[in-house]
Amino acid sequence: MTAEETLARFAPLVAVALADSLPRGTDTPDTLREAMHYSLMAGGKRLRPTLVLLAAEACGGDPRDALPAACAVEMVHTYSLIHDDLPAMDDDLLRRGQPTSHVVHGEAMAILAGDALLTRAFEILTTDLPDPAIAAECCRVLASAAGSDGMVGGQVADLAVTNVDPSSDSSPLETLAAIHHRKTGRLLAASLELGAVIAGAAGDIRQNLVDYGQHIGLAFQLADDLLDVVGSAQQMGKPPGRDAALGKWTYPALVGVQQSRELARACVESAQAAIRPLGDAGDSLRVLAEFVVERDH
Ligand code: IPE
Ligand code: IPE
Ligand code: MG
Ligand code: MG
Ligand code: MG
Repeated sequence: MTAEETLARFAPLVAVALADSLPRGTDTPDTLREAMHYSLMAGGKRLRPTLVLLAAEACGGDPRDALPAACAVEMVHTYSLIHDDLPAMDDDLLRRGQPTSHVVHGEAMAILAGDALLTRAFEILTTDLPDPAIAAECCRVLASAAGSDGMVGGQVADLAVTNVDPSSDSSPLETLAAIHHRKTGRLLAASLELGAVIAGAAGDIRQNLVDYGQHIGLAFQLADDLLDVVGSAQQMGKPPGRDAALGKWTYPALVGVQQSRELARACVESAQAAIRPLGDAGDSLRVLAEFVVERDH
């Protein structure tokens, strides 16, 4: 099965679960619900939820049991995109092929829609996962990956070096790897770990999946940075050329396109090596690792 076929296999399941996971409480203002729906249902590759479901399946579980975690991680990811696009951050106007949240709903509502998606993710985990111990462990994994040690910390580190001359850093490539690991890698690795936790995977298999997630995390951000140089707005649903315009540190900016491609390739091979102990059960994940760097969107 190709990576596209694997993403398509889970897409309908994920779409229905995501639509169902939006708040239904009468105290949620309609304007807020609409803003949450607008960004969450705008599409996107749904890579993270697919990784949650695939990891659960690779560990012998039923992927449907992992749907609450798949929704939770996509909600956290979507919130991170809404905030990443704000004028105070990357100041972007297009996301998932549509005007960004703050362009449509205003800045205050975009911030609040992000806040509500983030908190709803943890409500979904604690409400929809039947085993309280598993729910608690999933909350810990997701919170750690999303918070100050993870995605938010990485975003802060990304902003801290923006428009700073890399030659002022004694090891800029190590600094960049640490940024990419936190802002992107941790949430991708958490996606796999959540699937493993829900399927009750043994400790070593869980660690193999986390290692795979960390390697594809760096490959994924490398590909994102490469697409920002060579990709098209039509395919990506977001404008290229933004990293250079904003003065971002990226691998293409630091080492060039060719070396970035080689590095991404090496990450894919490390990811595939990490899940070798899974044998045939890791086949779909092996193929998906290739997609992470071969994609055009
Ligand atoms: C974009 O993520 C942000 C990064 C972490 C690089 P995706 O490329 O997965 O965005 P969607 O979910 O498909 O829109
Ligand atoms: C953002 O990285 C990673 C997040 C945590 C959202 P980018 O700023 O490169 O993501 P895009 O290119 O806007 O999707
Ligand atoms: Mg950014
Ligand atoms: Mg951005
Ligand atoms: Mg980018």
